[in-house]
Amino acid sequence: MLNIVILAAGKGTRMYSDRPKVLHALAGKPLVRHVLDCAATLGPQRVCVVYGHGGEMVPQALAQYGAQFVIQEPQLGTGHAVQQAMPHLPDEGRTLVLYGDVPLTQHSTLHQMQQAGEGLVLLTVTLDNPTGYGRIVRDAQGDVQCIVEEKDATPEQREIREVNTGILLAPTAQLRDWLSRLGNNNAQGEYYLTDIVGMAVRQGVAVHTVQPAQRWEVEGINNKMQLAALERTWQRVEAERLLAQGVTLADPARIDVRGKLVCGRDVEIDIGCIFEGDVTLGDNVRVGAYSVIRNATVATGTDIAPYTHIDSSIVGANCHIGPYARLRPGTRLADGAHIGNFVEIKNSDIGSGSKANHLSYIGDSTVGSRVNIGAGTITCNYDGANKFRTVIGDDAFIGSDTQLVAPVTVGRGATIGAGSTITKDTPDNELTLSRSKQLTITGWKRPQKGKK
Ligand code: UD1
Ligand code: MG
Repeated sequence: MLNIVILAAGKGTRMYSDRPKVLHALAGKPLVRHVLDCAATLGPQRVCVVYGHGGEMVPQALAQYGAQFVIQEPQLGTGHAVQQAMPHLPDEGRTLVLYGDVPLTQHSTLHQMQQAGEGLVLLTVTLDNPTGYGRIVRDAQGDVQCIVEEKDATPEQREIREVNTGILLAPTAQLRDWLSRLGNNNAQGEYYLTDIVGMAVRQGVAVHTVQPAQRWEVEGINNKMQLAALERTWQRVEAERLLAQGVTLADPARIDVRGKLVCGRDVEIDIGCIFEGDVTLGDNVRVGAYSVIRNATVATGTDIAPYTHIDSSIVGANCHIGPYARLRPGTRLADGAHIGNFVEIKNSDIGSGSKANHLSYIGDSTVGSRVNIGAGTITCNYDGANKFRTVIGDDAFIGSDTQLVAPVTVGRGATIGAGSTITKDTPDNELTLSRSKQLTITGWKRPQKGKK
């Protein structure tokens, strides 16, 4: 049985922000949510978040996780922080301590800690420059003796390059006992979680160490420089994952994945694209430069030209979208649709082979198949209070600069003359138009400027 305690009480002074540090986003998601999401993959019995600053912002931001929130006030050190969680944890099994500002620890590493053996398990890392970290002190046999903080270390201990990441796994009943006996007689006057290691050793409890597969898994965030650097590291990891699967990236340094991007075979992504939430791109999809795609599915063979925005939409196969197209939530394009520049579509179904190639707004509409929507067509879906639907039948042809005042239905095969304002349903297969007749006033003269 596993409990997880996430320490998230630090103020984050060096972020210079009114928001608690752990709510700053990496890859579009608050730091502490990365930790909670990874924690959930271990199937814990209890998850306890120790928070401190920012009032109720942290519990409010994480309400959907069903975690236990415990306030630590004042903050007297990492040992004191874990102590706050103990009343909420059952004695059985083990407790894993994670950190809300160490966002990228991977399931595989934590799983390895669970497999490392009974007793106390520490996640450590060996650094070229260990300055600032607690050092892992080992005896001649290589067994861990204790952790000593930088500020309490002797010059010889400071030479040690194996350091404490802070992440540890301990038998809960023993952890409770060790924490109750912590003192704060040290350089910082804090209750150090790390002092439990020496206690375990004195009690003859085995201490195991595990190292993460990658250094970035244990990197913590204290300022915006570190946040930006870890963001780049993570984006590089995402880009390499895509490349390894055969996705073509014009530049792996110029793609941002803020969520989950799933790609089929022979997908090509040009520079500057952003993918948010859950995005699936089918085989042979091409995404043009500087497109932003969020929570969308794009089927096989669709070509997305540069500067296209797609949000909460479903795009069929072999469509052409953009450049400069905007698909807003609730857009569904059937196969072979063409949506061109400066066309905005919202909450609408566009049938197969239908085209809206220039400067249009299509909202709350059902558009049939093989429809041609001329340049500048607008569905007037909103009367200032309510929204209404526009229905356009198969094979209709909507002339340029038409306003379709909803609720309205254009019949199958109907043609609407350019420049029409359509307020009533139009019959199938007929030409309907609403514009005054063109007339010429012969002999008319332009006005002249008056003499001064
Ligand atoms: C701690 C470890 C050190 C380790 C380093 C790794 C201790 C005593 N030292 O040092 O061995 O190398 O992390 O980064 O544990 N926190 C609270 N409440 C508190 C104090 C801290 O929630 O009262 C949280 C902070 O928000 C932070 C984490 O615990 O997320 C670590 O605290 P910090 O003070 O930064 O620890 P270090 O001094 O860096
Ligand atoms: Mg500290």
